[in-house]
Amino acid sequence: MCGIVGYAGSRQAAPVLLDGLEKLEYRGYDSAGVCVHNENGLEPVKAKGRLSVLRDRLEGGSALPGSVGIGHTRWATHGAPSDRNSHPHMSWTGKIAVVHNGIIENEARLREKMLRKGATFSSETDTEVVANLIGYYYEKYGDFVLAVREAVVRLEGSFALGILCKDVPGKIVAVKKDSPLIFGFGEGENFIASDVPAILKYTQTVAYLEDGDMAVFDGDSVEFFDSTGEPTEKKREKITWEMSAAERGGYDHFMMKEIYEQPKALRDTISPRLRNGQVTLEGIDLSAEYLKGLRKIYLVACGSAYYVSVLAKYIIEKTCRIACEAMMASEFRYCDPVVGKDNLVIFVSQSGETADTLAALREAKARGAQTLAIVNVVGSAIAKAADQVIYTWAGPEIAVATTKAFTTQLSVVYLLAMQMAKTLGTMSVGEYNALISGLESLPYDVERVLSQRHLERCQYLASRYHAHHDAFYIGRNVDSGICMEGSLKLKEIAYLHSEAYPAGELKHGPISLIEDGTLVVALATIEPLFDKTMANIKEVKARGADVLCVTLEGYEEQAEKIADSIIAVPKVHPLLQPSLSIIPLQLFSYYVALYRGCDVDKPRNLAKSVTVE
Ligand code: AGP
Repeated sequence: MCGIVGYAGSRQAAPVLLDGLEKLEYRGYDSAGVCVHNENGLEPVKAKGRLSVLRDRLEGGSALPGSVGIGHTRWATHGAPSDRNSHPHMSWTGKIAVVHNGIIENEARLREKMLRKGATFSSETDTEVVANLIGYYYEKYGDFVLAVREAVVRLEGSFALGILCKDVPGKIVAVKKDSPLIFGFGEGENFIASDVPAILKYTQTVAYLEDGDMAVFDGDSVEFFDSTGEPTEKKREKITWEMSAAERGGYDHFMMKEIYEQPKALRDTISPRLRNGQVTLEGIDLSAEYLKGLRKIYLVACGSAYYVSVLAKYIIEKTCRIACEAMMASEFRYCDPVVGKDNLVIFVSQSGETADTLAALREAKARGAQTLAIVNVVGSAIAKAADQVIYTWAGPEIAVATTKAFTTQLSVVYLLAMQMAKTLGTMSVGEYNALISGLESLPYDVERVLSQRHLERCQYLASRYHAHHDAFYIGRNVDSGICMEGSLKLKEIAYLHSEAYPAGELKHGPISLIEDGTLVVALATIEPLFDKTMANIKEVKARGADVLCVTLEGYEEQAEKIADSIIAVPKVHPLLQPSLSIIPLQLFSYYVALYRGCDVDKPRNLAKSVTVE
């Protein structure tokens, strides 16, 4: 969703802001803008569409003088994408400029109030209300920081704000609640941004702002204040990854780069947690007494992270014999869940800032449950709010369609399930050791699926099937979870209508949609269920479906007799098999998207981090 960036220093601000916004493009946006403080006062320039439109308008930034400024990429919530609704927004007094990520929930009431005070509005956005509110208090008190404080305490909802004042050249005020904001410390220059890649080119030293924190800064200094307005110190953290991690590095798309980063991401996530043949999840405290007292484990997340949760249900129930339920975070809060002290609630999130997942986490805590988060972004809101956190070490994931975050989340599920099973004594030594060696070789197995042979096969299958209008993914047990993820990949980047069902469910309704030439992607990677899935393939074949089957090496011949085309993956430990089965589906979706001429990394209407409910 929206991205914000701010710069104060001695360079020309506009090119730095444009650079930063480019690195935030992955968040998803439909318009962009900057505002710079220069000898003309506050100068905003905004444009609907891709960042390149704004870049052209600003001649790469060189057309806009000034060394202090704020920038924004907007994902429309209040009002359609347009130049007028783009940020930064000015107060009606012309003295305040604001960029905002988040949603102001009491916007309508505040708008009424400001209209009564004589303010005027030129956009439909909630952000203009913020600009006017600060503008109003600035007129009243004549103090920039005080005006921001007075306005912010009246805001309900989520916000990360970057603010300029015409009368206070050189200064930026930034404040946040429930939307991410980092501060970057430079030499004679300082930055704010929604995410690290926006400023990594200039500094690797950052501070993560907490809810209620305010930063008041220029190029030389910064003062931090906490939610009570008291001065506070922020811990400086060193970003350990290089800029290259957030660049395409020779690949045509981030998605392909990230697909190929999976072996490394898995190695980084798994290896440090395997010591002397044991799983060791440092800092995770789940005693036998606590686990034995659990009535149920909930797994709560959105999108692909929810599909990891669906798979986790199979994996944890199988290994730990504790009842599990996967729930979509957007539903969790509104279904009065039976959650309390005897529940562990696990939250899964790449970004760590998904609004529904964060809200569900707060709900679970309020109901007295223990919470554990599986998160990729260090220091993110979900990581901070959970009682315990296990990080996936996938590195920055830029493509909107998740790949390496998905497989590393799954690997953390394996580790967690094994640690809990060991504590509970629900897994035999033999089974435990088999899983340990399976996990050790998993990155190599993924490398095998990423071979040139598989790549070409997936490309060929995409060339064969890309013109279809509908696809149905079917599979049993963990294969059904992988079907959901494979189907989502195809929908989100290739805009091809696709649905996923447990294979046995198809004949209870959806099979009526199968007709001559309908594409069915069938997963048959679970040996004991192979024959059952083949029977389901025969049912759709009998109704004219064109079947692409993902199966295990060694089963090609049998599958080929029934399905129209096959792709086989190496056979590994059955619980780990989903980590391999998903890879051809990622590659297939990628190539289908290319054949259909889609923008793989920036699919329409989507945002990488969904920070609104
Ligand atoms: C996956 O490709 C999607 N981009 C989306 O479903 C994503 O997994 C979901 O929005 C959850 O995001 P999170 O992991 O950052 O919480």
